Amino acid sequence: MVADAVAKVCGSEAIKGNLRRSWGVLMSADIEATGLTYLANLFTLRPDTKTYFTRLGDVQKGKANSKLRGHAITLTYALDWFVDSLDDPSRLKCVVEKFAVNHINRKISGDAFGSIIEPMKETLKARMGSYYSDDVAGAWAALIGVVQAAL
Ligand code: HEM
Ligand code: HEM
Repeated sequence: MVADAVAKVCGSEAIKGNLRRSWGVLMSADIEATGLTYLANLFTLRPDTKTYFTRLGDVQKGKANSKLRGHAITLTYALDWFVDSLDDPSRLKCVVEKFAVNHINRKISGDAFGSIIEPMKETLKARMGSYYSDDVAGAWAALIGVVQAAL
């Protein structure tokens, strides 16, 4: 249920605090580099997901692939929609449900979407350095769980 997953995230100050603090670090760094790291981690840890991205051309080319580069930027800003809605459960639900439509169109199941949890963890480790903790990764897994519930 999306509502339960939303309530878990929005009802926990610890989860929201971890999301906001880590988001601040990711956004204060180079957003494009964050997105490219995130995608590179996805394709390395879960090579099966590359088949979904054929429209973007050769994803192995990284930054040299302009569509992939564009996706890295827009994908990172998309996370801002979620983080910006944490204090308003009905708004988070709306944003997630619209976002789910885009992924349902690409036939991505909740399980397939879960492929992003480990790559997110590695991205957080890479970008946050000593500020990283497993609680931060857990907070992102909870937020990703909201999207999974909508798929
Ligand atoms: C979707 C931005 C103008 C048609 C989107 C999305 C964004 C966006 C962020 C969500 C990503 C997505 O669902 O793929 C903008 C901005 C615009 C603009 C910033 C102008 C500055 C337009 C115009 C049209 C249009 C002029 C039509 C003439 C659509 C459609 C979708 C979409 C059909 C997909 C909706 C769906 O089925 O999910 N747009 N858009 N957009 N936009 Fe735009
Ligand atoms: C498209 C964000 C996870 C597959 C998009 C778009 C955004 C986005 C903003 C562009 C909107 C559109 O084209 O409709 C995110 C975020 C994710 C995430 C923030 C994680 C937190 C995933 C995962 C997969 C995936 C895990 C696959 C397993 C796709 C595909 C497209 C897409 C195939 C369309 C690419 C294209 O052909 O244009 N995503 N996504 N996404 N996403 Fe995601």
